[in-house]
Amino acid sequence: MNFAPLLHYLEDYGLMALAPLVEESSLEQIKHGDFKKWREHLSGLPAISASTVSYSDTIRIGLDTDCDAATRAQLVQQLREFIPWRKGPFNVFGIEVDSEWQCNLKWDRLQKRIGSLKGQAVLDVGCGNGYFGFRILEAGAELVIGIDPHIHYVAQFWALKHFLPDPPIFVLPVALEGLPLPLEKFDTVFSMGVLYHRSSPIDHLMQLKQCLKPGGQLVLETLYVDGLEGYSLTPAARYARMPNVWFVPSIATALQWLQRCNFVEAEVIDQSRTTLHEQRQTPWMPFESLGDALDSSDQEKTIEGLPAPSRVVIVARRP
Ligand SMILES: C[S@@+](CC[C@H](N)C(=O)[O-])C[C@H]1O[C@@H](n2cnc3c(N)ncnc32)[C@H](O)[C@@H]1O
Repeated sequence: MNFAPLLHYLEDYGLMALAPLVEESSLEQIKHGDFKKWREHLSGLPAISASTVSYSDTIRIGLDTDCDAATRAQLVQQLREFIPWRKGPFNVFGIEVDSEWQCNLKWDRLQKRIGSLKGQAVLDVGCGNGYFGFRILEAGAELVIGIDPHIHYVAQFWALKHFLPDPPIFVLPVALEGLPLPLEKFDTVFSMGVLYHRSSPIDHLMQLKQCLKPGGQLVLETLYVDGLEGYSLTPAARYARMPNVWFVPSIATALQWLQRCNFVEAEVIDQSRTTLHEQRQTPWMPFESLGDALDSSDQEKTIEGLPAPSRVVIVARRP
């Protein structure tokens, strides 16, 4: 995880408050998630560089001709150490990493409806392995910072970046609430798939706002349920097998939360039911997936008897 080039960007963008987060002494504090193990995996990756990169539907890093067959066979094993690959897809030197989620479908739904990202500094909160960060670069952003407290996914990002010619994208092993707020420096902030994991969604929205410049854009994606303004679902225990879901708002409630947090110009840009085509088990994510979370006799319901997962994307602006 080479954070040295990040420091120049932090200086240029007035974000030096983030620098202590990537000092070796801070990284050493990270005890959870086998951080040491992942760093060892990263240091064992072969020293090969991608001759071409393409950040489109499948993030393509290099060609199969960039490395010999023995190196590729070794790399398959090394990339498999990082299973489960939840977000993607990626192709690394000809190796298809078929992730659980086909994230290109979500990106297709929202990309044309958000404002231009050209020249922007963008923060992706809960970025996982950085799939969407690469798409944000493709859309013209000048700097992408992703944050995620889940070290395994952060390590996946750095495994991919290892082969790249240092594009201006960085993933930091930190939660939103671990940032030194307020920052007020990002043109656009993404929070996708995080709100319902927070026990205090209002605090999450307030913290997102504090990352944005005045006039900056929030792209918020969340699970939602049908219901009137004010309604949200609090699962008794699990939702679609997930133990860490606190509040699933109706769309009207999500809009109300945004308004209460003083966001303006909120607009719903997409609503979709998550399909078994978009989220499924693959050889690179061989564990339970959406198919195991739905009621086998009624696909409108989860195995807990709750509404099957649907997602909404809302854009809003910090005044
Ligand atoms: C459902 S995944 C969504 C990943 C990606 N944004 C997407 O839309 O596919 C939620 C991600 O948010 C991360 N996350 C959970 N709590 C967070 C927090 N407080 N701050 C930042 N990220 C968080 C998780 O580790 C996980 O990678």
